[in-house]
Amino acid sequence: METTEKKCRIAILASGAGSNAEAIVSHFAGNPAIEVALMVCNRKEAGVYERMQKWGIPCHTIGKAEWQPGSSGQQVLDLMRSEGVGLIVLAGFLAYIPESVVKTYEGRIINIHPSLLPKYGGKGMWGHHVHEAVLAAHETISGITIHYVTENLDEGSIIFQVQCEVLPDDTPDSLAARIHQLEHAHYPRVVEQMAMK
Ligand code: GAR
Repeated sequence: METTEKKCRIAILASGAGSNAEAIVSHFAGNPAIEVALMVCNRKEAGVYERMQKWGIPCHTIGKAEWQPGSSGQQVLDLMRSEGVGLIVLAGFLAYIPESVVKTYEGRIINIHPSLLPKYGGKGMWGHHVHEAVLAAHETISGITIHYVTENLDEGSIIFQVQCEVLPDDTPDSLAARIHQLEHAHYPRVVEQMAMK
């Protein structure tokens, strides 16, 4: 049967293990209105490929030359256009997003960060570095932030935050595990809200 209902096609950008990417893909499995169309990674050796291949998600590698200040971003834009992508979701993506991509997808490109921004954001603050800094500062609370991507790293408006405890005997790994749980519980739902807009 023909349908006029518009489908939102999502591109996930990831650099690492891809647990958030997988949480999002599994959330939308079988959803007729929202589809993860592709995953783009900047590192050939990242674990995310295996997770995506398991779900049949097409994977693309775009090397580091594209992800530099001053890059035209044309390769990314061409791919997004040809795939009809309406929403770009960064899930542990650790490279610079070209300005042209940020501008073209203004309000339609989001990121997740493993701290309560504006705390512990910016250059060098990713993954375990964030958790190490939180523990070194003896914080008793940390959490996650989902925010729009703008030209300024980790400074886009905040869409969603939720906090968790930092326990006295936490290590970077135990805190990361708690943060990952929060991310997997909330990011797919927030992505869904964005995709429905
Ligand atoms: C996540 O905790 C995400 O918040 C963080 O990287 C991890 C990726 O894990 N992102 C950043 O630090 C961005 N500055 P995953 O590959 O298992 O989803």
